[in-house]
Amino acid sequence: KTVHAHSGAAELGPYRHYMQKEIFEQPRAIADTLEGVISIMPELFGDGAYKVFKQIDSVLILACGTSYYAGLTAKYWIEAIAKIPVNVEIASEYRYRESVPNPNSLVVTISQSGETADTLAALKHARSLGMLHTLTVCNVATSAMVRECALSYITHAGVEVGVASTKAFTTQLAALFLLALSLAQSKGRLSETDEAEHIRALRHLPVAISAVLALEPQIISWAEEFARKENALFLGRGLHYPIALEGALKLKEISYIHAEAYPAGELKHGPLALVTKEMPVVTVAPNDTLIEKLKSNMQEVRARGGELYVFADADSRITSSEGVHVIRLPEHYGQLSPILHVVPLQLLAYHTALARGTDVDKPRNLAKSVTVE
Ligand code: AGP
Repeated sequence: KTVHAHSGAAELGPYRHYMQKEIFEQPRAIADTLEGVISIMPELFGDGAYKVFKQIDSVLILACGTSYYAGLTAKYWIEAIAKIPVNVEIASEYRYRESVPNPNSLVVTISQSGETADTLAALKHARSLGMLHTLTVCNVATSAMVRECALSYITHAGVEVGVASTKAFTTQLAALFLLALSLAQSKGRLSETDEAEHIRALRHLPVAISAVLALEPQIISWAEEFARKENALFLGRGLHYPIALEGALKLKEISYIHAEAYPAGELKHGPLALVTKEMPVVTVAPNDTLIEKLKSNMQEVRARGGELYVFADADSRITSSEGVHVIRLPEHYGQLSPILHVVPLQLLAYHTALARGTDVDKPRNLAKSVTVE
């Protein structure tokens, strides 16, 4: 197993932790991951991809933790853009359950390290069931996962030292969006106009992310308040529900605050009972088609005295008021919005952990790569 030696402080530059450095490296990491991608072609994923993409009729995504949330996001993109059904499974669950194999499915594994035992085992399990079309989105070209898969897209996030994954996640999302476009194209479902527009938006991402990173000072002011809490709820809808899940995981794993994420529409089916003024409710509020529904979910929370912390797009008319704190992101970024909306959640988790004095880069009980079961 390659252990990356780091020169410590020298490498941290102006940052206090590797996690903060890696959050700020995301524009560069995405630019490097999309290097040279000027048009969509299945061959981005390796020789023979076109033949496989044309043939498959569904996708099965296998991953763990943050990579699993990248998979959940990819499901929305692949089904909406390529019109191909997607199942996303937690690797440690899939590898042991009686599932129904489909040899015409594309098995996609997502792994930063490419050494996660559960994901490798889940891949082997799928193959043992006759599912032989395999592809991985991975950050380590020399890893076991890349060797095991026929097709691959290597993200160029660089070495990720912080145990809590950040730049690996957003580069995974960029690669998975390319996969959705490539699958669509292979099925004749991607017009040249749409292709050009998606490529333009992807190539503009580094600039858009830099604008979101500039929100750090506002997020630091929230973190002081957050550090005093014992619990938190994260709400998101549709494409941004996996982002709420990722935000909750970030906060949990480095600040040790118990945080849960829910689809905002699910609140009234139980979780609303948890809401008091002691329960901060973080809301991912992109200005998409679900915004009006999300606003009524926010009113449900306010009516119970819940304190709302809302990340809204500049062009949505959500304003601060009593018990409603709002930080504004740039204008709505369309289908790639999840990549922007996860960044403030990473910063919130980081600064809350900092205020709590936890070991941000090496949180208790956790390892960077879970190579044992
Ligand atoms: C994420 O912040 C955690 N470090 C963890 O959930 C991680 O995403 C998971 O262990 C999967 O690791 P991998 O991407 O290297 O397979």
